[in-house]
Formats: sequence, C-alpha cells, structure tokens
Amino acid sequence: MQIRKNKIYIGDVPVSAIAEKYGTPTYVYDENKIRENYRRALNAFSKYYPDFRFFYAVKACNNPAIVNILRQEGAGIDAASVNEILLAKSVGLSGEDVMFSGNFLSDDDIRRGLKSGVIFNLDDPSTLPRVLKFGKPKILSFRVNPGYGKSNVGEFVTNAGPNAKFGVHPDQVMDAYRAAKKAGIKRFGAHMMPGSCITEPEYFTFITNLMMDIIGKVGRELKIHFEFIDLGGGLGIPYRPGEQGLDIEEAAKQVSAAFRAKVRQYGLKPPRLMMEPARYFVGNAAWIVGKVHSVKRSYKKIIGTDIGMNTLARPAMYGAYHHIYVDGKENAKREKVGLCGQLCENTDFWVKERNLPASIKEGDIVVVENAGAYGFAMSYQYNGRLRPAEVLVNGKNHFLIRRREEFEDMIRNTTVPGYLKK
Ligand SMILES: Cc1ncc(COP(=O)(O)O)c(C=O)c1O
Repeated sequence: MQIRKNKIYIGDVPVSAIAEKYGTPTYVYDENKIRENYRRALNAFSKYYPDFRFFYAVKACNNPAIVNILRQEGAGIDAASVNEILLAKSVGLSGEDVMFSGNFLSDDDIRRGLKSGVIFNLDDPSTLPRVLKFGKPKILSFRVNPGYGKSNVGEFVTNAGPNAKFGVHPDQVMDAYRAAKKAGIKRFGAHMMPGSCITEPEYFTFITNLMMDIIGKVGRELKIHFEFIDLGGGLGIPYRPGEQGLDIEEAAKQVSAAFRAKVRQYGLKPPRLMMEPARYFVGNAAWIVGKVHSVKRSYKKIIGTDIGMNTLARPAMYGAYHHIYVDGKENAKREKVGLCGQLCENTDFWVKERNLPASIKEGDIVVVENAGAYGFAMSYQYNGRLRPAEVLVNGKNHFLIRRREEFEDMIRNTTVPGYLKK
C-alpha cells in the first residue's frame, strides 16, 4: 500500500477505483507483496539450511488464487482438515506436498486422509490405533507439544504449552514413535507449532533446541530417521505502527545453527528442515477496503463502517490491533473517535478509541491494514451481513477472486420441511 498525493493505492490501483468497481467491504491482496514475503523468508532459511521447505498453512487464507501463488513459489500445504487437503489437490498439490495436521480426527477424516496419500501428522498417540484400523500412512509424524508456547496475538492463540489443546506431551513422544515403528510404519517426520506472531528470533532458537532434545533422543534410541522436522509457523509481523518486525535473516541463521548442532549432538542423519507459516506470507499483503456509512455523535463520536467483526473477526475475538487509514485524509487533523461495523453486538464496536481524521464523513473510504491472515478466512454471515468480495491486485491489474455473497448464499444448504410452509 502506498499513499500518493494523499490517495491510497494498493499496488498501482487506487482504493477508490476498487470500491467503485467491486463495492465494499472488499479484501484486496497484493500478489507482488505475497511473493516478496515468501522469497525473503525462503532465501533466508535456504541460505543457512539448503534442504529447507515451507508448507503454507492454508487456514490463514484459503482463496485458491492465493494458494496458487504460494504453490508457484514452491510451497507445500499444511492442511487442517480433509477439505483443506481437497483444496490443495484442486491447485495441484497432493501426496507428500501436503501435511495433514488435523486434531481430534473422526474416522471419516482418517479414512479420507489416508486415501489422499498425504503426510499424516498426529496430534495425539491415541489416534494411531484408529488410523491403523484403516491403513498405514506412508509417512507419519507426531505433533509434539514441547511444553512452551508463545503468542504475540493474545493468550487465546497460544497453541503449545500446558494450556494448549494441541500436541503430544514430551513424556509420551518416545512411546508414540515406538508404537508407530512396531506397527510397521517405515517413514517418519516430527512436528511442532509453538508460537504465533513471534518477532523475537531467540524464541525460535529456544524452541528448536527444546524440540530437538525431545526428537533427538527418539531418533537415537529407536534408530528412526526423521525425514523432516517441521518447526511450525508463527513467523511474526508487526501490526502497530512503529512495532518491530521479525528479523528473518537472524531467525534463519540462529534456527539453522541450533538445528545443525542438535542433529550432530544426537547423531541424526540430517532431516529436511520445514516450517509452515502463513501470517508472514499473506498477513501484510491484504487490506480491507470499506466505507463510512454514518458518523454518529452520541456518548462518543462513532464512525459506522461496513467493516464489522463479521468481516474481520480478530479485533473482537482477541483484541487484535489493525491500523486504519482514511483515503484522502491521511494528512488531516485528528481526533479520538470510535469505529464499528453494522452488527447488533457491541463487540462489533471494535475500535473503542483511535486518532482518526476529524473530518471523516459518510462515503469516505477506510482501509484496514494487515488483513491477509485470518481475515476473510474467519469471516461469517451473522445478521445477514454476508461475506465480502476478494480482489487480487498485480501492479495495475486487478481480478475478482471471490464474488461478494448474496442472499442466496445465506439460505443455500437450508431446507424447510413442507409442513412449515403451510
Ligand atoms: C498447525 C499450524 N501450523 C501453522 C500455522 C500458521 O501459523 P502462522 O500464521 O502464525 O504462521 C497454524 C496457525 O494457527 C497452525 O495451527
């Protein structure tokens, strides 16, 4: 995003043109930015550890156009469900290009996951006998919960450590792999996901050491060759102005050095190093373009827009900060106001107080930053406020990559028993 002569552009397209052509609210992705983010991270990690691969965690933004960009860049897919495996397949990725990291799997998940031939990453050793009832995954890993988790997004998002629902307790990891080996599984990997939006390289190093001390012992004692070790996602981005981003070069350097040292210490055959971020690739590569519908002066001055918690759940869900720009008014005098969406819930009053241009008025275009990860993917239809459109920008060009929902989308899949129609 750039501000040229006081007007906001995404790529080379003015947001006013996007609002006019596609309506509001609309998610707008910058293809070049996604590619830049991916390449910066890949270059850093593969420089220090050449046998390196990213699997994109498609849950963060599952638009097939975006997934195709990351596939073109060489990413595999981290899938949380069978439908995400199918999504990967729809863009041409299957088998060992896809890692199935679901949790609390149903028999149907297991059956369909096995049929797809993807890497199975089990969240709990108790799932293994259930998997074996249906077949043997070609390659199996366990999601290790190394006992620590960290989140710069809020405590709710912490996905490892004693309070997380995820992963195998370190004391159970040896037995989990032993059982898998005994059952005849021949190929192994290992996985963890211990952080969300982490901007301190040292944390990744700390957690790598912790993981490798768990997995190294398993490899040594059970004589298992880990074909890959996946250190999860969590590469952080700054959300607030002035916040420090992750020094990716430093993270890659430190993590690779720690990883190599542990591989040597435990006498392991060097595994492929993998990570499965999402936010780092797509987070800062999308904005929501919305409109001001009214300026209300009541107990406070409140700016009513068409971007609600149904459009962007993160602020209401876990207090996340998203910076807001007003097209044409970035240099204007500011005052403290609130900002909200159109839902009948007070959590939709998602900015209680922010310095925004004092002259903001009906019809102004607002642009919400860093909306690419866990943005559209978490949007929903509450109050009949339907999901927004998604647009991809590449330089001067723009493409509709998901149409705005309409009334038919709200009642699609419903049926009314005949007697209720009388
Ligand atoms: C298993 C798993 N892998 C990867 C990710 C991606 O995380 P991030 O977007 O923080 O990189 C997530 C996000 O929740 C996850 O649950």
